[in-house]
Amino acid sequence: MTVDLAIVNGTVVTPAGPQPLTVAVRQERIVALSDRAHCPAAREILDASDLHVLPGLVEGHVHFREPGLTQKEDFGSGSAAAVCGGVTTVIDMPNTVPPTADAQSLRQKQALAEAKSLVDFGLLGVILPNNLRQLRGLVEAGALGLKVFMGMTVGNLPAPEDGDILEAWRLAAELGIPVAVHAESSVLVHHCTERLRAGGRSDALAHYEARPEIAEEEAIQRAILLAAAAGARLHVLHVSTAQGAALVGAAKRRGGAVSAETTPHYLLLQSADAARLGNTMKINPPVRAAGHAEQLWQALRGGAIDSIATDHAPHLPEEKRRRNVWEAPSGFPGVETALPLMLTQVNAGRMRLEEYVRWHCENPARIWGLYPRKGVIQVGSDADLTLVDLSRRDVIRAANLHSKSKVTPYEGWEVQGVPVCTLVRGQIVMREGQLVGRPRGRMLWPSREARAGRASDDAARLA
Ligand code: DOR
Ligand code: ZN
Repeated sequence: MTVDLAIVNGTVVTPAGPQPLTVAVRQERIVALSDRAHCPAAREILDASDLHVLPGLVEGHVHFREPGLTQKEDFGSGSAAAVCGGVTTVIDMPNTVPPTADAQSLRQKQALAEAKSLVDFGLLGVILPNNLRQLRGLVEAGALGLKVFMGMTVGNLPAPEDGDILEAWRLAAELGIPVAVHAESSVLVHHCTERLRAGGRSDALAHYEARPEIAEEEAIQRAILLAAAAGARLHVLHVSTAQGAALVGAAKRRGGAVSAETTPHYLLLQSADAARLGNTMKINPPVRAAGHAEQLWQALRGGAIDSIATDHAPHLPEEKRRRNVWEAPSGFPGVETALPLMLTQVNAGRMRLEEYVRWHCENPARIWGLYPRKGVIQVGSDADLTLVDLSRRDVIRAANLHSKSKVTPYEGWEVQGVPVCTLVRGQIVMREGQLVGRPRGRMLWPSREARAGRASDDAARLA
């Protein structure tokens, strides 16, 4: 058998650890892993000497803004940023215009994305106060999961009442798909925001005070209780507090079907950085005070938190430059900076490379029902691969980002460890920072095993 491509001389990060292997690719999939002597004949050879070969990152949380907000991002620019950051699969959020709230809006987004996307993608639907009757159709149209915004955020989608959440999650349980929450209490956020505004505050730190830790803690606790009552599998998005992580860990120990993600910004920044970064750093939930980050690292290591996702939330630079905190939108891009930032942490000894791969490839693929097609280098999986140079140094510059949102809280950060080549289903789409592929991204449907319900390895470890 002659294969299409062989990636030789690299160190391949498999579930069993880094190994010197050749990866053989045929018809978009990995067909063999072998030492070089036993590699099948290949039409094309990619030399990965001095490089590590990772599964392409499965990025569980992006806002690619299609349709309706494409001045901030679209699937073309977002997926270009993704592949330049070593990401080969994204899960796109439903707070677009229109929101992904019924089958028709999901199909519309699918068509727009398939025309432009360099990466494969899954779409989440949204649960609103008034769309219960649309949800079955939304799932049948291919939603990978259903998201609830428990508190008001970008898009101003109203939080459903608890009764509506319970009904919707019972349906999700019946249909076998996970539910996801943006866990901030709308009641508490509204109360705190109004108090600060009435008091005349408009500085960047007021945002941090407007969305206190208790708002996340209360919402996560309520979500865990409601999901258990509904029998639904719950994924808690962007956990920012130590308390939130502890609640997820406790629910897992009780046997709950719960998973959680945190983000590079909660792991690397702290609220005091707002004094320097202003509204560039504004995001929901806010970056917390010193101390939370260390506990979020612990939660990853201990298995309370399963995955790392970026919450890539692009806005235009001029929007982010507004001085009045209430007028600047929340969020900043992350899909291109995550891998170098995290490889820098690997180099610093904060985590092992295979832990990072578990948290940013394997576990998100499991959570969203895409494993083992995505998230792992093994025979039969899609040939989504990211070659990284762990020794190469670089400096993060907003101006170099491929997102329409040339904004980053990491401006000037020195990193060590960068992606040098990204392949999506066997096609090279990025080489040395240059885009070289065509848009061939496809929408991903949940697998049958996923519908039967299965948590991540880390959840299993804790339970
Ligand atoms: O900061 C945020 N930005 N948090 C969200 O929940 C939404 C996101 C966005 O869409 O910009
Ligand atoms: Zn988000």
